[in-house]
This record gives sequence, structure tokens and C-alpha cells, in this order.
Amino acid sequence: MLRETCDVTVWQEELPPPREVIRRELAEADGLLCLLTDPIDAEVIGAAPKLKVISQMAVGFDNIDLAAATSRGIPVGYTPGVLTETTADFAFALLMAAARRISEAERYARAGKWKTWGPTLLMGFDVHGATLGIIGFGRIGRAVAWRTRGFAMRVIYHDPSTDSDVARQMGAEALTFEDVLAESDFLSLHVPLTPQTRHLIDARALGLMKPTAVLINTSRGPVVDQRALYDALATYRIAYAALDVTDPEPIAPDDPLLMLDNCLIVPHIASSSVQTRTRMAVIAAENLLAGLRGERMPHCANPAVYSQ
Ligand code: GLV
Repeated sequence: MLRETCDVTVWQEELPPPREVIRRELAEADGLLCLLTDPIDAEVIGAAPKLKVISQMAVGFDNIDLAAATSRGIPVGYTPGVLTETTADFAFALLMAAARRISEAERYARAGKWKTWGPTLLMGFDVHGATLGIIGFGRIGRAVAWRTRGFAMRVIYHDPSTDSDVARQMGAEALTFEDVLAESDFLSLHVPLTPQTRHLIDARALGLMKPTAVLINTSRGPVVDQRALYDALATYRIAYAALDVTDPEPIAPDDPLLMLDNCLIVPHIASSSVQTRTRMAVIAAENLLAGLRGERMPHCANPAVYSQ
């Protein structure tokens, strides 16, 4: 799509381009299509005199200095909506996998440890009938809530910006942050990373949770204080965590969290279905092309640029 009308330079490596490469390429570029692994901060934007548009292939854009882009009048594209259901599917998959200890059980079977049927072998927690707490009741949080229907779960949430009437129609109850922590059997995080949500789940928050609780994070790693999470899991202050995101990413191979059996970690793949990643790529290209043509982009994270 881009090559039809643009002179495109593509970074072909698996690992993200070094900062100097981004800066060098942006010295001449009119547009940038980036990933969440590319830090597009004020300095990088400042070093891009011709830049007219930034398009990120992700719904989250905490790697981009939105204020710096807005002050230059640069629209920033993102890919909301298309990945909602796929990400919710995956959050639910992590919930189920943690509840029933699927990855531990698979490691057990592959390691040749399966000797017999054991009455207490790899006992987990029931999902049906349990209480799911959702922190952040936006598009993805709600899509996770819908998935609980076949499991007869109670859904509670905390999100000051959600209309509680809409939530009530879905059978979800708004509670304080503390009450959601205290009452959840499963706690799933669906907030963007902002200064307010950094380390939202810290030692205090973990201390309010049930000792049998399972934490699921498909949002951003730094929403959880990972040291505090390690302590809580290692001492069974909470029962289990299932993380699609870590802080930093990738997680260091010697991070103590990787040593824990009650922590399931996967490499930031919640939106990674063939269909959704394809749609995200197309939307990212459409946003970029609209920005280059000076048209309003279909999905803009800083629409204030259009009223400046
Ligand atoms: C993935 O984490 C995204 O923000 O799209």
C-alpha cells in the first residue's frame, strides 16, 4: 500500500532500529510508521524537520510523546477497535491457562513426570462461578467481561470514566479500586500506561488481593510493579500471575519471575492473530497515507491537531 505512492525505507531486522538509525532516517522523512518498541520521544520528533505524520501499528502509544507531536501539529495514528476482540480472547486464554495451570501441566507431561492419575495432581481454581475484576472498563475490558457469560462469573470493575448504566446492562458492577482488588478471584488489567497507571498494581494493591487471586496483565508491563509482584508470588501472597507484558520487554532471561511456577509469561502476543495483525497493518498504512495527503486520518490519537 505504501510503496504505491511513497518512497519507503523499511527496517528489515527483527530487533528494533537503534535510536541513531531512527533519527538519521527521520532527518528526511515525511512520515513514520512505527511499532510500540520504538521510542518516539520529543528529541526524536525534534530531529525530524519534515515529519508530517506518525502512524503506530498498535492501540497503545505510550512510546510516543503525544504532546511533542501535537505541538508540532503532527497527527499520530493508532489502531483501536480491530484488536479488541482478539486481545480479549487472549486475556481470557491467559485467565483459563493460569486457573488450570496449563503451562505447568504441559511442562510436567513433556518432562516425563506423568506417572499416574493423582487425586491432587496440579489442582487449580474453578473459573465458572468465580468473580472477575476488571481494572479499566474500556473497549477491551468490556470485551473480556462479555466472555464471562458462559462461565456464570460475577463481573466487577473499576473505571471512573465508564458510564455505570452501560456496565450495569452488561451485568457488571462498578466498585472502588480497593473493593475490586479485595473481591476478585481473577483480576484483569485493561488500562493504558500513563503516569497515573504506572505501578498501579504495587505492593499495597497486591496486599489487598485474595491469597487465591490470579492476576492477568495484557495491558502494559509497568502498570505492575514487577518486584512487588515477584514478592507476592514467591510468598504466595497471591496465587498466580499470567503476563503478556513485562517491564522491561523482553523480560531479562535471569529475571526471578521466570523461576516461579506460579507465573505464566508470554511475549506480548495478545493481538497476534493472523487476521488482527493483518488488519492492524492495513490501518497503520491507511493512517499514514491519510496523514501524508493532509487528510484527517481514520484513527488519530491526538485529534486536537485538526482543530489547531
Ligand atoms: C499492543 O500492545 C498494542 O498496544 O496494540
